[in-house]
Amino acid sequence: MERDFASWMGSVQARMEDVLTRLLPGASVAPARLHAAMRYATLEGGKRVRPLLCFAAGEASGAMPERLEIAAAAVEMIHAYSLAHDDLPCMDNDILRRGKPTVHVEFDEATALLVGDALQALAFHLLAEHRLADAPATQLEMVATLALAAGSRGMAGGQSIDLEATGKMLAVPELEAMHIRKTGALIRAAVVLGAGCGGPLAAAARAGLDRYAKCVGLAFQVVDDVLDAEASTATLGKTAGKDSKQGKPTFVSALGAAHAREFAEDLRQDALAALAPLGERARRLRELADFIVLRKF
Ligand code: IPE
Ligand code: IPE
Ligand code: MG
Ligand code: MG
Ligand code: MG
Repeated sequence: MERDFASWMGSVQARMEDVLTRLLPGASVAPARLHAAMRYATLEGGKRVRPLLCFAAGEASGAMPERLEIAAAAVEMIHAYSLAHDDLPCMDNDILRRGKPTVHVEFDEATALLVGDALQALAFHLLAEHRLADAPATQLEMVATLALAAGSRGMAGGQSIDLEATGKMLAVPELEAMHIRKTGALIRAAVVLGAGCGGPLAAAARAGLDRYAKCVGLAFQVVDDVLDAEASTATLGKTAGKDSKQGKPTFVSALGAAHAREFAEDLRQDALAALAPLGERARRLRELADFIVLRKF
């Protein structure tokens, strides 16, 4: 019998903790302060949603777990870097992340900056060092996918739009464009890299997977906006209520929390429908769409 979602999720999360612990330089290796801060930013915390999506997509393409853990670690390192920078005083100025002081509070601002630089470089080093796909051309496409997702047309670009939009109202299409970049792009990359670690998918399955990834990527940030407005600091492990305090345009400020939730629910239905060509192989992806939209933290 296949195990239930909670137990599958727990096992991927535990595996990722081991993998990341092994792949990150030791905290006593010079320069020790930077390495300690990289580990602090990455280990012991986080839902590991992007690694989970990577493993779930890999399950759909029959990928080897030894490949998936490297691809997932690379994506999670980019994510951890984006959080360390997002929390800096020059961005969201947050003091709490994953239930702990943010990297710049625990260490210092310059170290938090370097943590991001170094995690990003390590992520790409991993993709260069390990054999992840059957065909070298596929692996190169995976590297390009992650680079695009992290860069100015992806996460970094979305963060730039976010900063420029602070204190302004954005209409829904503009909010979508921002969220797709700042959060959706990396989530989509997690899915594409996971699938790439396995065998080739038929065109319809590939298109469905891509549509799924875009829907859950956008839904993820819509729900993040809702939780910022509705959940507590204790459940989130990060300061609640900051978006409205800082004048961030969000799906909650544009639509209200109830309509934002409905929008996320529509995206979940679209995501599930998109998986039809994948059949039973997409079970974990379906469960993750539910988790991402229905989560409480
Ligand atoms: C928070 O991401 C930042 C966003 C992109 C919305 P997560 O909610 O995935 O954060 P962790 O990794 O679980 O801490
Ligand atoms: C952050 O969005 C997206 C990133 C690229 C890190 P938020 O600023 O809403 O993330 P939280 O709420 O601080 O986790
Ligand atoms: Mg932010
Ligand atoms: Mg933030
Ligand atoms: Mg947020």
